[in-house]
Amino acid sequence: MEKFVIHGGKPLNGDVVIGGAKNAAVAILPATILAADKCTIENLPCISDVMASLQILSELGASIRMISKSTYEIDTTHLNCTEVSNELSRQMRASYYFLGALLGRFGAGQVAMPGGCNLGPRPIDQHLKAFTAMGADDSVEYGMIRVRAEHLTGSHIFFDTVSVGATMNAMLAAVKAEGLTILENVAREPHVVDLANCLNMMGADVHGAGTDVIKIRGVKQLHGCSYSIIPDQIEAGSYMVGAAITGGDVTLHNVIPKHMEPITAKLRAAGCEVTEYDDAMRIVRHGAIHPVKIKTMPHPGFPTDMQPQMAVTLALANGTSMVTESIFENRFKYVDELTRMGAQVKVESNIAIITGVEKFTGARVSAPDLRAGAALVIAGLAAEGITIVDDIYYIERGYEHFEKKLA
Ligand code: UD1
Repeated sequence: MEKFVIHGGKPLNGDVVIGGAKNAAVAILPATILAADKCTIENLPCISDVMASLQILSELGASIRMISKSTYEIDTTHLNCTEVSNELSRQMRASYYFLGALLGRFGAGQVAMPGGCNLGPRPIDQHLKAFTAMGADDSVEYGMIRVRAEHLTGSHIFFDTVSVGATMNAMLAAVKAEGLTILENVAREPHVVDLANCLNMMGADVHGAGTDVIKIRGVKQLHGCSYSIIPDQIEAGSYMVGAAITGGDVTLHNVIPKHMEPITAKLRAAGCEVTEYDDAMRIVRHGAIHPVKIKTMPHPGFPTDMQPQMAVTLALANGTSMVTESIFENRFKYVDELTRMGAQVKVESNIAIITGVEKFTGARVSAPDLRAGAALVIAGLAAEGITIVDDIYYIERGYEHFEKKLA
């Protein structure tokens, strides 16, 4: 399937079950390498990034058994290869987590060097800084990045910037390093905590995940575990926004309301009613969408991965909103496409000034990246007439059965 065809203008009403978190899954699957044993991972989302991670594990020599659509048993006992092929590692940016996991288990790892992407330059200098501090060397040849260490030792690392990827990669490398590793100025996202919980279930000694200092005491050996991944905060947020923009009434199941707080707060400010239950949430909008001011920040700030979906909603508000993107340089690429649907948005540097319009009209648009693609689908839900969104392979990287769940 290459495009979504959306007959818009209907409120989104009903119930939706949220899948496992993509950004936790793409780190937890490589983490099974460290166990050198059998792990059962539950609540894996059915998305292409997860399929690519499983394929990499299998290519490296793991045995993989599908137990249900969202549960896989992964046996990494006999995994013996430390090089992820160029072709597979280029399928997803997050293949960089295989570097930390392979380095942690074998003292060597190789993946394709992640390049820039549609969000602008995305360096991995902080990942490499952590590996180097633990005693590893790195080199880039023929487009591949290789890390290698005779002996990994714990270290005190202060990250120059708050990075989800560098935090989780350093954790993967450190759990079996000799001695104590202290990571400072780390990311606090729910998926960082999820990775720490999973590693601890394997016998690691990780403390402080969810705060800005993580302490890891290296252990000699880890073991297999059964672990269920947390629900996806961004998938959940996207359906909340879908209800908000269409004036709908949606109940989300399998969510952790605490993880949704930065998104919930802005949706309430925009005029939505949000009710929280233990592991469910209901979002309803009756009146107008009010303009709000948003600035993306590392957790617990407003997530950059919800910026496009929220901006699209504010483009139908009864006033002018301001959205500041402070994590990535190039995250307003969808604005040109949205303009074709009737939105009025002016981007100046990293700020979008959004003047609300009364309605969108359907148009043929292309998904520029994963979250922006989802945002254009959400715009299509609210638009008069038919919207066609092309290049949906981006969207399939992160949303399981998007069209079925929306329908
Ligand atoms: C992860 C998420 C992505 C999300 C982002 C921010 C995964 C698989 N992806 O991406 O969905 O949008 O967090 O919440 O979990 N930086 C450096 N040097 C580094 C690493 C990062 O300068 O070595 C910069 C980046 O360019 C960016 C900022 O730090 O400006 C944050 O990036 P980071 O948190 O690392 O994002 P990712 O882990 O790539």
